[in-house]
Amino acid sequence: MWFAVLALVVLPLLVLVYFELGALHRRRLLKEFNGPTPIPVLGNAHRIGKNPAEILATFFEWWHDYGKDNFLFWTGYSSHIVVTNPKQLEYILNSQQLIQKSTIYTLLHPWLGFGLLTSHGIKWHKHRKMITPSFHFNILQDFHEVMNENSSKFVEQLKKASAGDSIIDFQEHANYLTLDVICDTAMGVPINAMEQRDSSIVQAFRDMCYNINMRAFHPFKRSNRVFSLTPEFPAYQRTLKTLQDFTYDIIEKRVEALQNGSSQQEQDPSLPRKKMAFLDTLLSSTIDGRPLTRQEIYEEVSTFMFEGHDTTTSGVSFAGYLLSRHPDVQLKLYQEQCEIMGDDMNRNASFQEISQMKYLDMFIKEVQRVYPSVPFIGRYCDKDYNINGSFVPKGTTLNLALILLGYNDRVFKDPHHFRPERFEEEKPGPFEYLPFSAGPRNCIGQKFALLELKTVISKMVRSFEVLPAVDDLVSTDGRLNTYLGLAPEEKLKREAGRHKYDPVLSAVLTLKSDNGLHLRLRERGSSICI
Ligand code: HEM
Repeated sequence: MWFAVLALVVLPLLVLVYFELGALHRRRLLKEFNGPTPIPVLGNAHRIGKNPAEILATFFEWWHDYGKDNFLFWTGYSSHIVVTNPKQLEYILNSQQLIQKSTIYTLLHPWLGFGLLTSHGIKWHKHRKMITPSFHFNILQDFHEVMNENSSKFVEQLKKASAGDSIIDFQEHANYLTLDVICDTAMGVPINAMEQRDSSIVQAFRDMCYNINMRAFHPFKRSNRVFSLTPEFPAYQRTLKTLQDFTYDIIEKRVEALQNGSSQQEQDPSLPRKKMAFLDTLLSSTIDGRPLTRQEIYEEVSTFMFEGHDTTTSGVSFAGYLLSRHPDVQLKLYQEQCEIMGDDMNRNASFQEISQMKYLDMFIKEVQRVYPSVPFIGRYCDKDYNINGSFVPKGTTLNLALILLGYNDRVFKDPHHFRPERFEEEKPGPFEYLPFSAGPRNCIGQKFALLELKTVISKMVRSFEVLPAVDDLVSTDGRLNTYLGLAPEEKLKREAGRHKYDPVLSAVLTLKSDNGLHLRLRERGSSICI
């Protein structure tokens, strides 16, 4: 009897006291950080929200409550700091040691292994050094050709989909476009996702990205062990195998083709230079004097296919959505296209012409300020750190909140106004606006991404007038139709008038809209500017 009481009451109490004392100690260590008061066992988990959209809204509220500065919250007994202070961001992003990613990235391990995005330590340092030349100017020019070809196909697809004033989910269309671009540039193999949406490989990409996002904030499915017991697990394994088989197969074929191709070129040097894919660069690279193993090549190619398509899907889709809501901005973009592209608005813009499109550049910057493709960067403190004077104990997760930075009215005047021109007038400091991160682990694909976004949007603006799903949804005052970051009363007031086609922002690894991004397209009748 006494033994049963001990087992049922006293032991759990002792465990609770043990954890509470540990937490008390950690809370003392972290006392300089403001944040919501945690309760035993749950910390703040009960208040954080049930899904990514709610969690994002809570982060904005807490940020508002704690003076638009860093804040601390707890899930159970785990401490998390949301970092928005530029001084601390600078310290973290410049650190050569604080480079271990947070646990959310473990969801990527089965598919991507330990490629550039997910690895750390010596492996990351060596691979980063080896991969950096893959984005050399000449290679980017080859990639630009692929971007142009796919943008033209994209426009043709959109013409069909939007015929008869149909409302389309632009986010979905953008997903297939960016998949085509990345497969062709990373592996040198077109997968025709735009034309063959139901092919097994296209579905596998879609299912895998869905799975990662779905599990990221799920209380149970986040754990690999628990997820392996769910009914969804067998389908997930099939998807994983499809992606792995596909990529390994391409690698083998590319090795063969390169061997044959190089011997042909040796015999006849007048043959045209073959377009280089990222995979080719990897195949000819070495680490410590040895070629990369098949697994290392697989990990890096898969990393590029994930990071290079999920992010640009978000970038292209929010850019299209914002065009539809802000006709005045769209008109300025169109006028710039007329000035630079001259009489023939249907041709491809050259690499040099893209670099002359200054308003387009500011437009993309402004899109990334309000809807950054990567809303948070997660880092894990593998030991105690002193972050610019603040002590942060081992085991703390740091969420670098790139999305909150864009709404800081101390840096961006009237941040809910969508106004590309602000980038001519306001100069945010280097750690006040960070869509591509900064420091040694910044986005290695930044130039590639900007080139792709600009190539696609330049072509779209010349081909279509982009309209909102319903005419009334046009922004008449230049303000955004999403209300994150507004003071609570104003947010409530505006949300009461929310339309079903207003986006529901959801931030997991990339920013998406849970209910799609809907718009209409009207073909521009003439290819000549008036
Ligand atoms: C709008 C498009 C993009 C945005 C906003 C973006 C943003 C970012 C950000 C914020 C990071 C840091 C993430 C972190 O530390 O967790 C990152 C890392 C990375 N990005 Fe991008 N990215 C974009 C497109 C691309 C593309 C097109 C590629 C490849 C072709 C790419 C490849 C990578 C890789 C490999 C890393 C990891 C770098 C490392 O840890 O050394 N990204 N990106």
